[in-house]
Amino acid sequence: MSSLRDGDTYLSTKGTCPRAIGKATGAIGKAEGFRHMRAMASTTAATPVRAAAPRPRALSVWLFLVAAMVLAMVVVGGITRLTESGLSIVKWEPVSGTLPPLSDAQWQAEFAAYQATPQYLRVNAGMSLGEFKNIFFWEYVHRLLGRLIGLIFALPLLWFAWRRAIPKGYGWKLAGILALGALQGAIGWWMVASGLVDRPEVSHIRLAIHLLTALAIFSACLWVGLDLRALGRDEDARPARMPTAGIWALSLLVLQLMFGAYVAGLDAGFAYNSWPKMGDEWFPSGVPMLSPWLRNLVDNPIVVQFVHRWLAWGVAAGVGVLAFEAFRRERNLWGAALIAAVAVQISLGIATLLTGVRIPIAAAHQGMAVVLLGTILAAAHSLGRRGAAA
Ligand code: HEM
Repeated sequence: MSSLRDGDTYLSTKGTCPRAIGKATGAIGKAEGFRHMRAMASTTAATPVRAAAPRPRALSVWLFLVAAMVLAMVVVGGITRLTESGLSIVKWEPVSGTLPPLSDAQWQAEFAAYQATPQYLRVNAGMSLGEFKNIFFWEYVHRLLGRLIGLIFALPLLWFAWRRAIPKGYGWKLAGILALGALQGAIGWWMVASGLVDRPEVSHIRLAIHLLTALAIFSACLWVGLDLRALGRDEDARPARMPTAGIWALSLLVLQLMFGAYVAGLDAGFAYNSWPKMGDEWFPSGVPMLSPWLRNLVDNPIVVQFVHRWLAWGVAAGVGVLAFEAFRRERNLWGAALIAAVAVQISLGIATLLTGVRIPIAAAHQGMAVVLLGTILAAAHSLGRRGAAA
């Protein structure tokens, strides 16, 4: 019996009898049937025999799934932060932490550990066990999703590698994404650890690094996935090249995402909930300034909010240029998607501010930031696609 699937050759003599071979071959005759079978059996000594069979389409679907999970993760991460749940689990137990506390005694132990943290002592003193369970929930879901993404990335990666389904030139890219994922777990813990001593909140700089690393993973999955999808359609396709307009739009966006994380991490969204002015002024007078001056761009909540408000128009301009390029090259759908995504994102930002950071709106603003990033990447990829080398 032999089967040929997707270019993989599997040879097996299981269930084959000499008579069947003799009958089937007819002219071969009985003696020849035995010889034929012996030859087959020796071929199968090393079963299964696998030949390289790249599966770019399957790989691209898998990478898009991982990217979608990272998007969900960013939204849950936002809700975790907005509900101030992020410091409720004080240990990092990658394997045993998969299960939540199951008995009363386990809940009490978990609660007791939280009660020793600065956040409990200074912000949540007197919190009941029921309230603790609520904040525990979001952090638990956030970490569980992180583990799930790790598994859904690593296990299929091993399987694809074993089946030799990874096209040439993509192995190191996928290994790089895996390494970024492992790094992100460590950064997440490094960020939480910053809020477990002395200060009851996490460092906004670590929050920004955590968010940007998540978005780097998202971007890598999406971009490599799009390259693989193109390869699935045309076996001569080469990895796309990022167009100049895409580089500008992305650079401005990354800067804006960093300031968004600073606004969030410094709780700067709760100051000056008016728009377009901050109170009655474009920039409030009498704001205490830090020295040296540059520190204000990182540590001064009012300055950080001011920059985030106005840099949005820089992002809009960058995205506008990319959209113009898309329209010029008749990628009208991408042009329209870019303009819609940036308009929705700016509107959600303004709404977040005006509502005094209402959780559903702020979480949507955070999620939409990822959608905007994805739209820019996909549009840029469509403009930078390349066929066979000239
Ligand atoms: C292209 C435009 C924008 C992008 C990509 C963007 C992105 C982000 C991101 C990613 C965050 C959350 C970071 C985190 O939680 O770690 C954030 C927070 C925030 N953004 Fe924006 N933003 C944009 C425009 C605006 C505008 C125009 C406003 C207001 C005028 C605004 C107001 C806010 C506020 C108040 C927060 C803090 C909300 C919170 O505490 O969760 N954003 N932004």
